[in-house]
Amino acid sequence: MKTAVLGTGGGGRAHAAKLAELGHEVYVGTRDVEGTLARTEPDMMGNPPYKQWLADHPGITLLPFGEAAAAADEIVINGIDGHNAVTALTAIADQLAGKTLIDYAVPFIYQHETEHPWPTPWGVMPKLDPCDTDSLGERIQRALPRTKVVKSFVTQEQTTVVDPNAVGGGDHTMFVAGDHSDAKQQTTDLLTSYGWSDVLDLGPLVCARGMEMYAHMHSAIGFGLGQQFGGHFGIKVVR
Ligand SMILES: NC(=O)c1ccc[n+]([C@@H]2O[C@H](COP(=O)([O-])OP(=O)(O)OC[C@H]3O[C@@H](n4cnc5c(N)ncnc54)[C@H](OP(=O)(O)O)[C@@H]3O)[C@@H](O)[C@H]2O)c1
Repeated sequence: MKTAVLGTGGGGRAHAAKLAELGHEVYVGTRDVEGTLARTEPDMMGNPPYKQWLADHPGITLLPFGEAAAAADEIVINGIDGHNAVTALTAIADQLAGKTLIDYAVPFIYQHETEHPWPTPWGVMPKLDPCDTDSLGERIQRALPRTKVVKSFVTQEQTTVVDPNAVGGGDHTMFVAGDHSDAKQQTTDLLTSYGWSDVLDLGPLVCARGMEMYAHMHSAIGFGLGQQFGGHFGIKVVR
């Protein structure tokens, strides 16, 4: 199956590598292929330059966002920085039409002034926009009415999403939300292929609000566990 991952950050790399390992033909999207391959410095999260990573993952094809989306048979994963995702995805609406878009982005604003900052080991905690009465997932769905948007993956580090058994023997919970049941089933099937056994359907896409707002709790738990840069733990809904 041909599957696209939009995004060259750490999360996108985790999905691209896992999908290739599972036998998918993987197309990764970026703004500017030449520019991305010309980078020589690690990104802001310390990930090595993309060209270096790609050399260790032969068979993965890097394309402009629109061409990567067009190459996918059914599933496109969105790993574009949350603040810029709606604009970037709207520009490729035609290439995403009819496909399932699994969105794990968080609408973080990194540089912001606030009266009551939350100092973290890596700077002030970013703020969410939108939040509370809207979500990035819903904004993407409104911008792409011909695409089936599913919010998922967002409550975990993506390295854990693609390898759930690395934490607690895989005994933890992943969520999906969206307005298209067939797209949620495709997402659940993909998660099952990653190794997930407990995938909880939260219902309509409006539930993306809670999933995105959980980002602060995810960081807080990570700090509580002494894991400053991305927490490797699971959350389980006990019932
Ligand atoms: N990493 C995780 O484990 C994780 C977990 C949960 C949620 N998230 C959220 O998921 C999203 C992606 O995270 P990530 O770590 O995989 O990658 P990231 O470093 O946050 O984002 C990288 C991608 O965003 C694109 N991008 C940045 N600015 C852009 C702009 N102005 N216009 C268009 N595209 C732009 C980059 O394009 P280029 O390729 O052209 O540079 C790159 O492909 C973020 O919102 C993050 O908060 C991440």
